[in-house]
Amino acid sequence: MKIERSVLSVPGSNWKMIQKGVASEADVALLDLEDAVPPGIKAEARSVVVSAFTELSWGGKPRTFRMNALDTPFFYRDLIDIVEQSKGAVDLIIIPKVNRPEDVYVVDTLLTQVEAGLGMERQIRLEAQIETADGLVNCEAIARSSDRLVSLIYGPGDYSASVRMPSGSIGVMDEWDQLYPGHRYQYVMHRILAAARVAGIRAIDGPFGNFRDEEGHRKSCLIARSMGFDGKWCIHPAQIPTTNEVFAPSVEELEWAQRVIAAYEEANEKGLGVVALDEKMIDAANIRMARVTVDLARAAGMLDEDEQS
Ligand code: COA
Ligand code: MG
Repeated sequence: MKIERSVLSVPGSNWKMIQKGVASEADVALLDLEDAVPPGIKAEARSVVVSAFTELSWGGKPRTFRMNALDTPFFYRDLIDIVEQSKGAVDLIIIPKVNRPEDVYVVDTLLTQVEAGLGMERQIRLEAQIETADGLVNCEAIARSSDRLVSLIYGPGDYSASVRMPSGSIGVMDEWDQLYPGHRYQYVMHRILAAARVAGIRAIDGPFGNFRDEEGHRKSCLIARSMGFDGKWCIHPAQIPTTNEVFAPSVEELEWAQRVIAAYEEANEKGLGVVALDEKMIDAANIRMARVTVDLARAAGMLDEDEQS
C-alpha cells in the first residue's frame, strides 16, 4: 500500500455496503467486525468477511478487517477463522483498543502460527487503534511493538469515553470545543503522531461522525493534515473525495516545494546556505519540509516514480 489517505469503515455484516466499499475510491476499505456488528451476529459476519476476501476483486486495495478487541470472547476466532478460511488472502488487520504493547504481541504470535499452518510466505500487517487512556500513555511502546505494525490510528469516540470527555458525536467539534481554548484533542493527537513518527509508521486520524456535514468533515481533515497525520477514517462514501484531496499536497504546495528545492540547490552550488525566495528565507530546514511534500506527492501518484523533485 503506497498511501493511506482515506480508510472507509464498512460494517462487516453488510454485503451490499462491502461491495460498494471495495469498489470505492478509498485507499483502504476495512470490513468491521467490532463496533458496527452487534454481538449476536459476530459469527455470521465472519463468514461474510471471508466471502468478501475470497470472492470479490479488491483491485489494489489491501484485504483488511477490524477484529474485536482482546478483552472480548470474539477476538481469537476473528483471527483464526478469517485468516484460515480466507486461505491467507488477508493483508491487513486493525486491532481496536490497544492498551499496551503486549496486546500487539498476542496478535502477532497467534498470526505467526496461523500463517505457518497455511504455509504463507508473507506476513499480515497490523494497525493499532489508540483510543483509551491506557493506550495513549503506552503509545510510544505500542508503536514499536511489532515489525508487522504499519500505523497508529486515533479513535476519538472511544478515547472521549475512556477519559470521560463529554462529546455528542464522534470526532465532531461541538459546544464543548467552542468553550475550550485551543483544540481539545491536540495533546492526544500529537502524542500519537510523534509516537508513530519515532517508530517510522503512519498516523491515521479517526472518523468524523456527522456524515452529511461536508464542511465539518473537510475542517476535521485539514486539522489532522495540519498536525502531520497521513490520512483519516471515513464512515460514508461521500467523505472519500475530500479526504483523498486533503491528505495529498495541492498542486500549489507541490510547485512551491519543487521551487524551494531548485532554489536551494542552486544556492548551494554558489556556496550559499541561505537564500531568499519570494521574500521568504530558505535554508536546510525548508528543504526537509519540501522533501516531505514531494515524497507525499509521489506516493499520491502526482509524480513519476523516478522524478526526483
Ligand atoms: N460503506 C459502504 N457503503 C456505504 C457506507 C459505508 N460505510 N455508508 C453508506 N453506504 C452506502 C449505502 O449503502 C448507500 O448505498 P446505495 O445508494 O447503493 O443504497 C449509499 O452509500 C448512501 O448511503 P446513505 O443512504 O447516505 O447512508 P445510510 O443511511 O445508508 O448509512 C450509516 C449511514 C452511518 C449507517 C452508514 O454510513 C454506515 O454504516 N457507516 C459505517 C459505520 C461503521 O463502520 N462504523 C464503525 C467504525 S467507526
Ligand atoms: Mg473505537
